[in-house]
Amino acid sequence: MSEGFSADWLSRREPFDARARSPALAARLAEVLPARPRILELGAGAGSLFRWLAPRIGRAQVWTMLDADGDLLADGFDRTAAWAARRGWNVTAPSGALIVHAPGGAWRIEARVADFGASSAALPLAGHDAVVCSALFDLISAAWVRAFAARLAVPFLACLTVDGRDRFIPPVPGDARVRTGFARHMRSDKGFGRAMGQDAPAMLARILREAGFDVASAPSDWLIPRMATTFLADMVEGHAGAAADALPAQAAPIHAWSDARRRAIAAGRLSLVIGHRDILALPKKD
Ligand SMILES: C[S@@+](CC[C@H](N)C(=O)[O-])C[C@H]1O[C@@H](n2cnc3c(N)ncnc32)[C@H](O)[C@@H]1O
Repeated sequence: MSEGFSADWLSRREPFDARARSPALAARLAEVLPARPRILELGAGAGSLFRWLAPRIGRAQVWTMLDADGDLLADGFDRTAAWAARRGWNVTAPSGALIVHAPGGAWRIEARVADFGASSAALPLAGHDAVVCSALFDLISAAWVRAFAARLAVPFLACLTVDGRDRFIPPVPGDARVRTGFARHMRSDKGFGRAMGQDAPAMLARILREAGFDVASAPSDWLIPRMATTFLADMVEGHAGAAADALPAQAAPIHAWSDARRRAIAAGRLSLVIGHRDILALPKKD
């Protein structure tokens, strides 16, 4: 079963995601793709990665988006249509697809509801020129990644995988407890077996190298400033809730930490860095 993510949450994080992803790795991917690449996106949600990456690929392209949550995929079509309209680009929707008629070529998207948590075996890897994803691989287990990497034969870009370098600024003593509980919660099963959590970037890079890929990686941290009070409150609530779930005996001090952090947000005295990495794996040239 897949983990639930709300459309509102994905929408609130989209501007932070867009500023954080590595344009350099995206450019390297775009360079190695064919003239009209066919791209498979895993866990596409509401299409945030498409709206960031498609303009960087910048030519005719075809996307297949997979996600367990059909409502998110449908919401993504609406968001992408509105996003394209704001840029003055026509959008058509022939039988279940969405086509953005961008300058330089049509960008076609098809979306399919699919829960691929139990196994990667049914993923339609053949017939695509690249596999991409964003904010997904920390949910996934090492065993799942090994089986996926063994079948993968095309470039793979995994954006925004959390790596645990989170910093609440200024630091306070209770941060350590929340960090421990949050990290433990991240390793719980999210539908793919025991999640790699904050070890995901290092494990993913190692497994892909062992499978014969050239792997490059770049930091893609969220930098959340003091004025982003709603998003900071989301983060404090998310960290405290996850930490209290993982460490129920310490729920009281974790709630006290959360209350103090909220007061700091209201006073304009909290900012936050959330550590991520982007990873690009390219098949080795013979
Ligand atoms: C953190 S969200 C990221 C969504 C999107 N990539 C983005 O960056 O906004 C993770 C996504 O993975 C999807 N997901 C989680 N488990 C899944 C599974 N077992 N099969 C398919 N999709 C899954 C969720 O529905 C959600 O859309």
